[in-house]
This record gives sequence, C-alpha cells and structure tokens, in this order.
Amino acid sequence: MHLNGAVVFVTGGNRGLGLAFAKEALKRGASKVYVGVRQPKNFNVENIQAVELDVTDPESVQRAAAACGDVNLLVNNAGIALLSDGALDPGLIDQSERIFATNYYGVVRTTQAFADTLGKNAPSAIVNVLSDATWVSAPMLAAYAASKHAAWSFTNSLRLQTKPRGIEVLGLHVGFLDTDMTAGVDVPKSDPNDVAAAALSALEQGSYEVLADAGTEKIKASLSSDSPAYIHPDLPF
Ligand SMILES: NC(=O)c1ccc[n+]([C@@H]2O[C@H](COP(=O)([O-])OP(=O)(O)OC[C@H]3O[C@@H](n4cnc5c(N)ncnc54)[C@H](OP(=O)(O)O)[C@@H]3O)[C@@H](O)[C@H]2O)c1
Repeated sequence: MHLNGAVVFVTGGNRGLGLAFAKEALKRGASKVYVGVRQPKNFNVENIQAVELDVTDPESVQRAAAACGDVNLLVNNAGIALLSDGALDPGLIDQSERIFATNYYGVVRTTQAFADTLGKNAPSAIVNVLSDATWVSAPMLAAYAASKHAAWSFTNSLRLQTKPRGIEVLGLHVGFLDTDMTAGVDVPKSDPNDVAAAALSALEQGSYEVLADAGTEKIKASLSSDSPAYIHPDLPF
C-alpha cells in the first residue's frame, strides 16, 4: 500500500520507534496520523493527533478504534521489555504475564478492534513490530523473546486471513534500537528513524517481512545453518 493519502494509527507513538513511525508516515504524505498513547495530555507534536490508548485495557482499545474509523494503516508498535534471570527464574511466569499482556495480547486485541475499519478502508495494512529476539536466544530476555515469538506467529496467521479482505500484513524484525527501552545498554544500536523508514519503504514495495539491520539479516540466515542463532547464540552467525 502507499502512504500518500493514508490514515495511520501508531500504538505507543509518543516516543521511540512509534514516534519515528508517525513522523515518517507524515513525511510520506499520510493525510492523517493518530498516535495511541496512555497520556494524550502530555503529547503535543504538530500534525499528529493523540488518542487515549492502553493496549492492555479492552475498553480503551475499543474506544480508540471507534473514534478512528478512517484508519487504513495500523502500526502495532507499543511494547515493553523486562530482564529476568532466565528460563529458570521463579518470577518468570509473573513477568511473562506482564509482558504478554502488552506485546502479545495487546497486539491481538488492537488488531481485532481495528480489523473491520481496515477492511472497510482497504487497501489497508498492518505493521507488527517484532524483534530479532524472535530468532536468537538470550536467557535474560526469555519472557520478552517468547512474547515476540508469539506475536510473530500471530502475524503469520493474520496475514493469511486478512489478505482476501485487502489488508496486507508486514512483520518488522529488528535488533537494538536507540530508544528509552535500551537506555544504559552499551551495544551498537539502530536509529529508530532509519528503521521506521525501512519498514514503510518495505510496506510500499509490497513486502511481507522486513529485516531492518544487518545483524537481524545474519540471525535469520543462520536459522537453516548447522549453528542457528537460537541454539548457538555464542558463535558468529
Ligand atoms: N528498543 C529496542 O532495542 C527494540 C528492538 C526490537 C524491537 N523493539 C520493539 O519496538 C517497539 C517500540 O519500542 P521502543 O524501543 O520505541 O521502546 P520505548 O521507547 O520504551 O517506547 C515504548 C512505547 O510503547 C508504549 N507502551 C508501552 N506499554 C503500552 C500500553 N500498555 N499501551 C499503550 N502504549 C504502551 C510506551 O508508552 P508510555 O510512554 O506510556 O510508556 C511507549 O510509547 C516495541 O514493540 C519493542 O518491543 C524495540
């Protein structure tokens, strides 16, 4: 689909990658850009409309979808990351419930709430923000990786069902980004503006998946090798 004239809704669009998506959509000619945010009063960016949204709250999601009946591109970006002591951490179930509430059920809930609108306004699209953590193992990110893996699986089921309704689905996989989420983590990071631009270019080219950095490309390429990144994250891939 093309961004020129599109009406875009970005969840968690008040900062980080979400705000980069909102600004990039405007640059590409979107006629309206909404950001779904938990504190709309604190958001003031020219030409971007804030709508109250908490993806963990079913009523909030229904209200946002009802208020934005002109949307034809939904970007499921809102997400949280928490660190643990790994797969055997006794707190992992509680932590997983918190992370899944946002990163998985939040994506499912928001997608379902906007589905009729997107179908009515087709050609339409959904971009789901995933992660390279889907394919590479890091015990301290066990719950986060599981949530993104689940969201990836949902993305792939969804694509098959919405295509006949004129709704394309793009999965964005990316490694570390220079946002609040990784503040204090001293590793090379991608610029969220570059990543949003790469994702929207891929969408405009009709792609179903975008790997937004070289590391993510290598991780995915390793999956069918003798040392896939999910078994040997310690080896070069
Ligand atoms: N940063 C990375 O290295 C990285 C790598 C791969 C993928 N990602 C993914 O990229 C996406 C954006 O992350 P980011 O790096 O931009 O993180 P961020 O700077 O921490 O921003 C997260 C955004 O999600 C919003 N959010 C969180 N929970 C929400 C909820 N329940 N309802 C509505 N909004 C909610 C936050 O809103 P508040 O301001 O109200 O908290 C904020 O706008 C996430 O899905 C993340 O998993 C990030």
